Amino acid sequence: MITKEKNIALDVQKVRKDFPILSRKVNGKPLIYFDSGATAQKPKQVIDAITKYYSEQNANIHRGVHTLSQEVTMAYENARETIQKHLNAKYSHEIIFTRGTTESINLVASSFGKKFINACDEIIISEMEHHSNILPWQQLCEEKNAVLKVVPINEKGELLLDDLKKLLSSKTKLVAVTHVSNTLGTTNPVKEIIQVVHSFPSPFRDGAPIPVLIDGAQSIPHMNVDVQELDADFYCFSGHKVYGPTGVGILYGKEEWLKKLPNYQVGGGTIKTVSFLKTEYADLPLRFEAGTPHIAGGIGLAVAIDYINAIGLPAIFAYEHELTGYATEKLSAIEGLKIIGTAKNKASVLSFVLDGIHPYDAGVILDQLGIAVRTGHHCTQPIMEKFGIAGTIRASLAFYNTKEEIDELVKGINKVNQMLK
Ligand code: ALA
Repeated sequence: MITKEKNIALDVQKVRKDFPILSRKVNGKPLIYFDSGATAQKPKQVIDAITKYYSEQNANIHRGVHTLSQEVTMAYENARETIQKHLNAKYSHEIIFTRGTTESINLVASSFGKKFINACDEIIISEMEHHSNILPWQQLCEEKNAVLKVVPINEKGELLLDDLKKLLSSKTKLVAVTHVSNTLGTTNPVKEIIQVVHSFPSPFRDGAPIPVLIDGAQSIPHMNVDVQELDADFYCFSGHKVYGPTGVGILYGKEEWLKKLPNYQVGGGTIKTVSFLKTEYADLPLRFEAGTPHIAGGIGLAVAIDYINAIGLPAIFAYEHELTGYATEKLSAIEGLKIIGTAKNKASVLSFVLDGIHPYDAGVILDQLGIAVRTGHHCTQPIMEKFGIAGTIRASLAFYNTKEEIDELVKGINKVNQMLK
């Protein structure tokens, strides 16, 4: 196994051969896929692992003495360990399999909220959050008569750290922020944010620091994340954005927090013994994993993590950084194009608007050219409100994209301008 530290230059043509979908045509043109922020494409290694599970291994886990059940239980638990090592979590039982980032956040909001949030308590999020990191907290605050506070962003799309400091109070019970904005590409200084929040006086009887939840849906595919180094209390991500299957994701939680959280969903798999008088629940992580999980998904996710580690995240980061710089330069040169999100630290997301052209119309024309971009509000309506726009055209890049594809995007946008202006 090649380690994470490996940092040789990425061979994009070699990488592209691993992704079967990249050789298909769309509307008669070679597919140019710039929507990896919505969902990333899957390498053959992941597709093969899923096929192998259903064609050779299919059985339920944690339940059978028969060979297949033992085999897949081991594969699933090995997958958990792969993810633990990847995040540098202290224990594998701090890794909870969920359906994705959205469910991971809902789990914490529901469970943490039940036990720790009371009337007038405060939860802090930021103005650049995806709806999935707004609504669970908003709903919780409505249910408990608690207060949702929002850290503003500046015109570049950067979080105003001083405002976060001002918003912290003796009533703050949790802070939830994204690592990378799916719309603006802003990479937040989450380590610093966590330090600021943790150094504020504790509102809890046991003296625990205010917990910080990081939405890592858009960071995990692009950079090394070490939850112990960050000192994150909760870190969430989705399998499908990191080249793995849909319907599976991760909630990392520090052991000390997970132990304090009450049950979320209960049912098969979450118990030690059940009687009508009393039920004894399982230890971590199974207490939070009710029902038969997405077994092929968990196994496929670990294969995806192995895949990116074999290439090396430093190499992926360097390649994508260069590609983003190239795309920013080329797009900025187009007359009437305005990039939304110009933070100093950005991951590979380019959101833009075209003067006088609706993003949806541009998206339709680009699709005719085989170019897949996302258009609209990207589940971040507060960002649209902030910038006074209805939506953007978003090209989200991955390490299988090339400079030639960026050139095609530029030609496509020029065509959109010719046709619609
Ligand atoms: N959150 C995903 C995106 O940004 C779906 O496209």
